[in-house]
Amino acid sequence: MKETLLLKVNSQKPDASKIEVAAQFIRKGRLVAFPTETVYGLGAEALNADAVLALFEAKKRPLDNPPIVHVADPNEVYRIVEEVPKTAELLMKQFWPGPLTLVFRRSSIVPNVTVAGLDTVAVRMPKHKVALALIRQSGCPIAAPSANLAGKPSPTTAHHVFEDLNGRIDVILDGGPTNIGVESTVVDLSVDQPLVLRPGGTPFEALKQVLGEIKLHPFVLAEAELPLEKTRSPGMRHKHYAPKAEVILVEGNVSAVITKVQELTEFYRQKGTKVGVLATDETQGSYRADVVKSLGSRFNLPLVAQRLFRLLREIDAENVGVIIAESVSSEGLGLAVMNRLRKASGYHIIKAN
Ligand code: TXA
Ligand code: MG
Repeated sequence: MKETLLLKVNSQKPDASKIEVAAQFIRKGRLVAFPTETVYGLGAEALNADAVLALFEAKKRPLDNPPIVHVADPNEVYRIVEEVPKTAELLMKQFWPGPLTLVFRRSSIVPNVTVAGLDTVAVRMPKHKVALALIRQSGCPIAAPSANLAGKPSPTTAHHVFEDLNGRIDVILDGGPTNIGVESTVVDLSVDQPLVLRPGGTPFEALKQVLGEIKLHPFVLAEAELPLEKTRSPGMRHKHYAPKAEVILVEGNVSAVITKVQELTEFYRQKGTKVGVLATDETQGSYRADVVKSLGSRFNLPLVAQRLFRLLREIDAENVGVIIAESVSSEGLGLAVMNRLRKASGYHIIKAN
């Protein structure tokens, strides 16, 4: 166990002295959790192999799943990648800083451990002022996966980071709750046609508008585990976003979903299982479960995304035996929400019709 230093920072005007304390840790090869606009990240100096190795250990993350390298200026990309395709320049201009990660062919200055031995590297320039200040002050690109223990829902507050990583990392910069709530969209540009490997904070529709040609990897909305050789992003292979409780996802039109969720609730309660339901404003009144929480209006998908991971953790904290979640639309940020819910359920999906 090490002592974890908790520093509150102003998210709009990050206090220079606290950022400097955190940056000193990064420069010494130590681990600092910090807010981004999507979720909290756990940062280490990206070009320092030992620091990145410590990052994997602190998170208990499998070594074959590389983190994202965060930069504070688009020009830093040229130093760490082999080639910047035209499509990348377009996307960087349009969406950086912001919730978009681009996968490039990597340069040899990036250590093997940082890219898990791949010939590509994932890079993003975040928008959050604390993240940008930390990267600038550290003077190096920062490798940062989400700051949760591997397999758990990503942290959207400093408290979530504390729950998972207290005693395992050096600093937590607390800049309040994150705004977007789901991770960045990951787009692979190292292949012939741009490919979305993970839906996230930048909607697929927005990428399509800029690029025209872009595809979704079949895994993005897979309804079952895909065979290993079909996965392009290492993260696709691992267990994700899983609360302690079993998660069941009920998909279909709203009225059929309400009926099915209520049916399942009764079934589990009769067995003596404590039931939690992850509902929406429009449906929450229909359920008689032990715990019912609303993600917000099902027509406000950015809000649903913002609350998703927090509510998964909150329901879990009530020690329910099963969490029944409703599907939402796959448009806009809904695509990321549905992808996370399907993974959280371990593909335990029930179709209501
Ligand atoms: O919003 C975010 O992206 C947050 C914040 C902290 O920036 N970070 C985040 O990192 O979600 P992480 O490590 O939890 O997820 C990174 C994803 C994983 O699915 C990983 O497999 C994928 O990016 N990835 C990383 N390097 C890759 C590469 N070279 N090729 C394909 N996928 C890669
Ligand atoms: Mg993660």
